[in-house]
Amino acid sequence: MNFNKRINYICFAVALGGLLFGFDTAVISGAISFVKTQFSLDTVAEGWMVSSGLLGSIIGVFATGIISDKIGRKKTIIVAAIMFLLSGFGCGFASSFTLLVIARMIGGIGVGMASVISPMYISEFAPADKRGRMVAYYQLAITLGILLAYLSNAYILSISDNGTSELLQQPWRGMFVVMCIPSLLFLLMLVKVPESPRWLVEINRQQEAQKILYTVRPKAAADKEFNDILHAKSRAKTTSVSLLHPSVRIPLIIGIVLAVLQQFSGINAIIYYGPNIFQSAGLDSSNALMFQVIIGTVNFLSTIIAIAYADKYGRKFLLKTGLTGIIISLILCGILFYTNHTQGYLLLVLMMLYIICFAFSIGPVTWIIINEIFPTHVRVKAVTVCTMALWIAVWLVGQFFPWLLEKAGPAFTFWAFAIFSLINLLFSLTVVKETKGKTLEEMDTAFVAPH
Ligand code: BGC
Repeated sequence: MNFNKRINYICFAVALGGLLFGFDTAVISGAISFVKTQFSLDTVAEGWMVSSGLLGSIIGVFATGIISDKIGRKKTIIVAAIMFLLSGFGCGFASSFTLLVIARMIGGIGVGMASVISPMYISEFAPADKRGRMVAYYQLAITLGILLAYLSNAYILSISDNGTSELLQQPWRGMFVVMCIPSLLFLLMLVKVPESPRWLVEINRQQEAQKILYTVRPKAAADKEFNDILHAKSRAKTTSVSLLHPSVRIPLIIGIVLAVLQQFSGINAIIYYGPNIFQSAGLDSSNALMFQVIIGTVNFLSTIIAIAYADKYGRKFLLKTGLTGIIISLILCGILFYTNHTQGYLLLVLMMLYIICFAFSIGPVTWIIINEIFPTHVRVKAVTVCTMALWIAVWLVGQFFPWLLEKAGPAFTFWAFAIFSLINLLFSLTVVKETKGKTLEEMDTAFVAPH
């Protein structure tokens, strides 16, 4: 294998964590109504079913922060893959509601773990000039996972009537079990993935780190990178390693704000409640699934724009253009609802515009930036804090969106998302620094406040 092929293979394999993240979070949308009937759930139990995955994610993020500096990046990814496998199996064959909730929580732990470790590993492994596009692969994988879950749910539903096995008679079981396939593939592909050289240097296994670098970079580039990593490490020894040091504090603020505002753009409300929004706007309910598939496809395809341009035009360019499009489409959607002009295709077109702009900007760029701005010695801790903030924001939107929709109406809800996106735009213009092309070691000093 030549260097490029090898790097692509490694990043592709690790990005599968994103695919499972997307699949696991989306599969529930098709399964929930069947689970509800099967176990005669009341609204509290239904809420518990949905939020158990989210609770698992928060636990998973936290666990990664603790274990990945100790056992290494690769083993942590393997643990996440095993969680996905266990969850797919456990949900599919759960004999009681309690077991189902436990299995969902285990899947959530996998999601949380993958959301920290996959992009971090890719960011540590990719060459500086390709890092943006490679972390964007991870976002592409999330969107593919979401789309595959919709398609697989629809397929299982279509064959469930003539099925003889329990997995098909109770379609929700089949929907969950399918997840075992990508989980197994993920596990198998991880076998050939090496440990992160930056982590190896951190724990003083220099020789192994150097050997791995030689397999993915030409000799001169590998030597230079190795020396940079060593220097950064010795520099870190002489400075404070706390999260409050200026070299960490500023990127930490950037990471947390971007993570929270990514979610406050309303992305998951639009992806998951989109069909409801459409029904309330007068569209036929049988189009709901169709709508999800269209949104899923547009989301997936538009992420490719980020892959093509994140390293060419830079992160800030994508943020600026994408957020501008997001704000415009949200304001216009709000106006359509406010003036009662929601019938017809304009609403659909505006929502597509929103998804396109999200998919090439704050979707991938948030993950790229969070995973590249921190020095290695605090990276895990800092990325954990930012990713935790992101998941808490996911939870907040999930809790408050239906309430906001009911109390304030869709117009004001869209405008609220627009205001948060405007704050994100202003923040990106003034505080976020361009990181395109910089090595992770150059990032160590990039944020130190001027004396
Ligand atoms: C976000 C997820 C979202 C997905 C949609 C990711 O960047 O973090 O919350 O569901 O994009 O494509």
